Amino acid sequence: MIIETDEDLVKLQKIGKICANILQAMQEATRVGITTKELDELGGRLLAQYGATSAPMLEGFPGYTCISVNEEIAHGIPGGRMLRSGDLVNIDVSAELDGYFGDTGASFLLGNGDKMAQRLLRASKEALANAITAAVAGRPLNHIGRAVENTARRHGLKIIKNLCGHGVGHSLHDEPDMIDNYYEPKEPRRLEKGMVIAIEPFISEAEQVVVQSKSDGWTLRTPHRTRAAQFEHTLVITEKRPIILTLPDGR
Ligand code: CO
Ligand code: CO
Repeated sequence: MIIETDEDLVKLQKIGKICANILQAMQEATRVGITTKELDELGGRLLAQYGATSAPMLEGFPGYTCISVNEEIAHGIPGGRMLRSGDLVNIDVSAELDGYFGDTGASFLLGNGDKMAQRLLRASKEALANAITAAVAGRPLNHIGRAVENTARRHGLKIIKNLCGHGVGHSLHDEPDMIDNYYEPKEPRRLEKGMVIAIEPFISEAEQVVVQSKSDGWTLRTPHRTRAAQFEHTLVITEKRPIILTLPDGR
């Protein structure tokens, strides 16, 4: 969506902060031995406290949040999986309040993890930061993907090409849809002032596509089960730096 009123901005800020606070609380609660279901139930309780609705549940997803571990790249279903030291965990929180949506996600390690996992985290965090810097009103939309791709290459890593950013606002996936995480020279669109988008680079150790699990119909994995990391923010495009809507309280 494109912001038209002050009310739009205020309400987007509100749900953005709620998503960010829940993501932070879930990260802080993550420890060895906890199940992804227990973590998700914390997310569900917090959503209820804020009066917000899980966006994935609105789409029929069997969980309040998506929790993807190691070989799972996105849309991991919370369940009985017990987290272990060294796991690369991704939590993605998206929710609705008063007709407005927010979307944020982060990968992190339980314990120190291995060198490659640390590199994936550094690169994907940096890719998001560089993409945010590139997201200025009037510029071509593909500057976002170019920033992500260049960052991955500098780190000697790959991009999951069939996962992309998207417009957000009155729905979880709003206009402009399909914001590629790589440079697409034929992309004709430009960023506009007031545009609300989620940028979410997925930086990968080897493979460049994900496939959907046949057994649960949701979980996205790489065919050979190599790993990737993601960071995601919802933001508003301006003529300078974007306004990041999904920062937790105090940030
Ligand atoms: Co998300
Ligand atoms: Co998203």
